[in-house]
Amino acid sequence: MIFKKIKIGKLSLNNRVVVSPMCQYSAKNGSPTKWHYSHLLKLINSGASMLTIESTAVNKKGKITHNDLCLSNTKQKINFKKLIKFLKLHNNIPLTLQISHAGRKGSSQIPWIKSNTPLTKKQNNWQTVSASPIKKDKNWPIPKSLTKIEIKKIIKDFAKTTKLAMLAGLDGLEIHMAHGYLIHQFLSPISNKRTDEYGGSLEKRCRFAIEIAKIVRKVWPKNKILGARITGTDHLKNGITVKDSIYLVNKLKSIGFNYVCVSSGGILTKTKLRFYKGFRLKFASQIKKNSKILVRTSGQMDDLSFAETAIKKKEVDFVAVGRNFIKEPSFIFKYSKFKKEKKILNNQYLRCI
Ligand SMILES: Cc1cc2nc3c(=O)[nH]c(=O)nc-3n(C[C@H](O)[C@H](O)[C@H](O)COP(=O)(O)O)c2cc1C
Repeated sequence: MIFKKIKIGKLSLNNRVVVSPMCQYSAKNGSPTKWHYSHLLKLINSGASMLTIESTAVNKKGKITHNDLCLSNTKQKINFKKLIKFLKLHNNIPLTLQISHAGRKGSSQIPWIKSNTPLTKKQNNWQTVSASPIKKDKNWPIPKSLTKIEIKKIIKDFAKTTKLAMLAGLDGLEIHMAHGYLIHQFLSPISNKRTDEYGGSLEKRCRFAIEIAKIVRKVWPKNKILGARITGTDHLKNGITVKDSIYLVNKLKSIGFNYVCVSSGGILTKTKLRFYKGFRLKFASQIKKNSKILVRTSGQMDDLSFAETAIKKKEVDFVAVGRNFIKEPSFIFKYSKFKKEKKILNNQYLRCI
């Protein structure tokens, strides 16, 4: 099953393992740098059937750190286009870009310098925004609650980034609705206490996500892949439940999204989330059972015989792997069932397995 093709919209993936998006905090003025060229080149030759490029901000204030990728102007578009052309010369698998707005998780220090720490004034911090003026953790600043005019502007920024991603030659687009970033801040009752049409009931908390999804669907070509990373659950009392997620996923399906990647956690620093092999599989499969969209999950899904069983049992359709593509870049080639699947290996490496 792992090596069985899967059709996503009009495109086909050669197998069921894709590279999960991984922020590198190594961009310059929003554009990719030499680091991205070498890092992504390794990943594109890993045997994965699709490469998801890290979370990329739709505007400057939507970055997590100063060094995030951002795709909001022509210069950045030109630099993304160069990167995509370079990667495509080396392997022609679909390249997907994850796009996002960090909201109250923005204006952060680069994690390897100081994790979970906001920037100081000296470090050119910026005023963050969110659904409500609720900070993400103690020692963090209070974000500004977005006005309706500001909400509409951010929705337009998502549309603009979508257009630029299309012009840059990307094959897929993934809207980041998880991990405690701005869209998630609207979805979760923990961070959204609004009393207007963007807060309150589940339907109202989903409005921001759905308005973004609709405008992106209009701009993004139908022959390319369109997906969203969502939160299966907040792992918190009073947070998003699997039932809430099923509602959102069915809306995304009806708008014309091709897949969802079920992730979880991140709305607060400390939740009840516990890590073990396939720790999101249970609720990802509940979401799959209750929707007709392709479902991917991530979170220690790199044991391929385990992933194979999950796909066979129709718990998920495909998986995203993050850290193991870095720690053990040839793990797909080492999988016992790979021997029959040499076609995904570059010819130059055929004598190596
Ligand atoms: C260095 C690093 C950066 C990450 N950046 C992103 C990101 O940009 N967007 C995202 O949705 N998830 C991000 N994640 C989460 C991964 O995509 C993935 O879901 C997570 O690592 C769990 O999968 P794994 O157990 O296979 O690593 C990141 C994870 C790591 C380790």
